[in-house]
Amino acid sequence: MLIDSYGRAHDYLRISITDKCNLRCSYCIPYDLPHGFYANSQRLTPEEIYTIAKVFVGLGVKKIRITGGEPLVRKECRRILQILSELPVEIVLSSNGVLIDEFLDDLIKHRISSVNISLDSLKEETFNAITRRNQQKRVLANINLLLKHNFHVKINTVAMRGVNDHEFVDFVAMTQNSPLDIRFIEYMPFIGNGWSKEKVITKNEILDIISDSFSYDKIEDAAHSTSKNFRVKNGSGTFGIITTMSEPFCGDCNRLRLTADGKIKNCLFGKEEIDLMTALRNGEDIISLIYQSVKNKYAVMGGQFDKGYQLIETEDIVNRSMIGIGG
Ligand code: 5AD
Ligand code: SF4
Repeated sequence: MLIDSYGRAHDYLRISITDKCNLRCSYCIPYDLPHGFYANSQRLTPEEIYTIAKVFVGLGVKKIRITGGEPLVRKECRRILQILSELPVEIVLSSNGVLIDEFLDDLIKHRISSVNISLDSLKEETFNAITRRNQQKRVLANINLLLKHNFHVKINTVAMRGVNDHEFVDFVAMTQNSPLDIRFIEYMPFIGNGWSKEKVITKNEILDIISDSFSYDKIEDAAHSTSKNFRVKNGSGTFGIITTMSEPFCGDCNRLRLTADGKIKNCLFGKEEIDLMTALRNGEDIISLIYQSVKNKYAVMGGQFDKGYQLIETEDIVNRSMIGIGG
């Protein structure tokens, strides 16, 4: 088991299979990507991803999330879905939804039954402004396609003041008749992503906005859930709030990350990374490196933002952009 110095057992691995994306969400990819995208040689091959994932499974990982960038833009995506599905673990996917129709059969074939889709606005103009691309119709159609095929669909909505806060009620309304789980994510700071503490809308503010239109009940949160979850009266779906900024949930963290260029990150906000790809290519032992990363994990927010989000100075952040980490 991968247990850190605070007693947290890590059984959930998020694997970013590419740092590329077919959208350009402003909070995720900076206008000016300092190093551009990785060349093929700098990325793990499908076989290397499988080899590393298998080592993690041997160390107790029970769930793997495939992320990006946008995972479905990677040319070898089908093969990666296929070989990872051979592992005896639950496999889930995070996607922006654009290419879901092309991969639906693969998802069904490989038992990937739960998909997280990013959707920040129900208004086409706002969606286009946030994503800097024009794909909303396809994303909405693909959400319906997934529901039609009985996938468990979670919608991730980054809550941004002045951008989509007037739409929270419309998102929650979708859960009345659809078995969707909508999760509002408090806006998180990464280099060059336009974050400021004023733009963060906290859980309490989001609930105040929703309370004006709906009555709802708190529901039980699953173990290691990152969201605090609710259901409107007689709703088919649920809504939740991922309180990374206002109420970090690090004490219960069970997640590790593998980046597309083969680095292990023990926290989304951690500064430090350990290079598994080079070690693997040199025939070195990666198990000891994985243990080392777990041992180095900080108690709260990668040791970087542990004094509260109001005190974060964006120019002091040491990290990748979100697109390079993988959701
Ligand atoms: N703040 C909050 N959520 C973010 N995501 C990406 N960047 C940020 C950010 N800065 C979300 C995406 C996606 C998930 C993987 O992470 O919307 O749904
Ligand atoms: Fe692409 Fe997702 Fe980042 Fe948007 S948030 S640019 S869809 S990886």
